[in-house]
Amino acid sequence: MSTAAETPELVRKSSRNSLEDALDVDVEDLQTLGTYILNTAVDEDTTDLSILIQTIGTSCKYIANCVRKLGLARLAGKAGATNVQGEEQMKLDVVAHEVFSRSLVRSKRCTAMVSEEVEEVIPCVSSRDGRYVCVYDPLDGSSNIDCSVSIGSIFGIYKASEKGKFDEKDTLQPGRDMVAAGYALYGSACNLVLTIGGSVQGFTLDSSLGEFVLTHPNIAVPRKGKIYSVNEGNSRWWSKGMSEYVNHVKFKDEPHSLRYIGSMVADVHRTLMYGGTFSYPSDAKSPDGKLRLLYECFPMAYIMEKAGGMASTGSSRILDVVPKHIHQRMPIHMGSVEDILDIERFLAASE
Ligand code: AHG
Ligand code: MN
Ligand code: MN
Repeated sequence: MSTAAETPELVRKSSRNSLEDALDVDVEDLQTLGTYILNTAVDEDTTDLSILIQTIGTSCKYIANCVRKLGLARLAGKAGATNVQGEEQMKLDVVAHEVFSRSLVRSKRCTAMVSEEVEEVIPCVSSRDGRYVCVYDPLDGSSNIDCSVSIGSIFGIYKASEKGKFDEKDTLQPGRDMVAAGYALYGSACNLVLTIGGSVQGFTLDSSLGEFVLTHPNIAVPRKGKIYSVNEGNSRWWSKGMSEYVNHVKFKDEPHSLRYIGSMVADVHRTLMYGGTFSYPSDAKSPDGKLRLLYECFPMAYIMEKAGGMASTGSSRILDVVPKHIHQRMPIHMGSVEDILDIERFLAASE
């Protein structure tokens, strides 16, 4: 008869209940954001990119802390100013922008940055080693901050045309030229979803470790979904095609469900996980839609495509758009390929 001393693993496992099993982390499988990105670095360029992404990961952890402590730390409420879009800034918008911009400057890996919260391109003049350009929405979903509903941060990274040289034009590259993109979701869990141009990897913040741990490897969006996500309160201004598409999914034999959080990060994250569509369309009130091309549409569209989904302006691939200015808006429809093709067909038919 074997003893516990001879078979410690067997004894340990068999005496545990299912909750202990569920809580178990196989230490051999434990992969953090840090180890994942360092493993992808093969040369000086990619090492710099790893440092940059690590910096952004740390910024997201800092913001996640602020989100958790919001009311307790007096971080709720308005900042008392408006941003470049004429939108009222919340305190957390300002804090998140400061966290992103200061840590990115300090990383010395950027030549230039674009933040939703700043009108002009931000030059990183001290970055002799910089070879990347970073665009970001430091806090997405501002209207949800004060009611503790999911919010997020979005970022996209491009190569600079020349190492160490600030060139404003580098910020106006089409989305397809990004080298990495990601977002952090401050939801019931804090997730960081990232692609460095290949597959899409999802990490979850383990607050006891203070680390993003790989929990959702190789995210793939279903080809077809059963959810549509759009602000239906704008339907009186919609085009005929948009109204007809939404009526189609509502009144078909197996109607789709509506889910709309009002934070792009959260709505797109759900779309990545469950499939379906997320739209912020062109309408008579906002012909260019609402969402900003550079730091909202492009990074999320890049992730969606890398996960096997599709992202469209309504008539063409959004990642092929060449931006004209840094705060430009663009209509967007993204999600499961078959559903986005349906939307494009409905929009084209009503033109
Ligand atoms: P931000 O908070 O960065 O300004 O972005 C808000 C955006 C986006 O997160 C969301 O999809 C959209 O606004 C919601 O807009 P509506 O309230 O018009 O539906
Ligand atoms: Mn936003
Ligand atoms: Mn924002």
